[in-house]
Amino acid sequence: MRVIWFDVVESTQDYIKSHIQELDDNTIVIANAQTKGRGRYGHVWYSKDNGLYFSILKKRLDISVLSLLVGASVFESIKNIYDIAPIIKWPNDIYVMLEKPKKVAGILVEKIKYDTIIGIGLNLNQEDFPADIEATSLKMFTNKHIDKNIFLIRFLDNFKRDLEYYKLHGFEAFRKIINDNLLYKNKKVTANAGKIEGILKEVDENGNIIIESNNNLLRLNAGEIELLREYNMW
Ligand code: BTN
Repeated sequence: MRVIWFDVVESTQDYIKSHIQELDDNTIVIANAQTKGRGRYGHVWYSKDNGLYFSILKKRLDISVLSLLVGASVFESIKNIYDIAPIIKWPNDIYVMLEKPKKVAGILVEKIKYDTIIGIGLNLNQEDFPADIEATSLKMFTNKHIDKNIFLIRFLDNFKRDLEYYKLHGFEAFRKIINDNLLYKNKKVTANAGKIEGILKEVDENGNIIIESNNNLLRLNAGEIELLREYNMW
């Protein structure tokens, strides 16, 4: 395993993308800060100092539920290291519950031909966020400062074990972790920019989210879920 650690880079994800030919399987690229950190659906990933931003290159790995598996691994790492109960927002965002749920980790899995780049952004030790960013850090939530190296080693260890477990036993145990800690379970949600409305049920055996809508069970394999806010006039 090779580790490339930048002080600042545009995006660890894009670094791997543009050097993919010369990088080996399991290369990890880390940055203390990113100037063009990005998330799913073209979102910007706030990447100032004190967070942990890294990408892992996996060559010729073909697991359809990989992004959920990574989410479950990040979830378990946070849970065990901080001794807290985080929540998973399908497919793989990790939240903690304050007056409302706030995001502490995001995952971006991208496939380039046969290779996969797994990008993970963790709000580890930030002391504050700009007002327009609805996030918190694990330090702000728990008051514990965890060294980046320590988190990384624990996570890589968990993830390796989880991949081995998955290869032997499949997705079921991870599905259970996700469903037992699922944000908005049995709540009214919208998906895909309001095109779908219904009750969020659970994640199925293929990693899809099941939404009950007008007595039908819809299964989505991608998308963004939001809590439906119903404004009652009376
Ligand atoms: C999301 O929540 O939408 C996913 C966020 C992924 C952010 C990480 S930080 C390391 C890697 N480099 C990037 O530019 N993005 C990912």
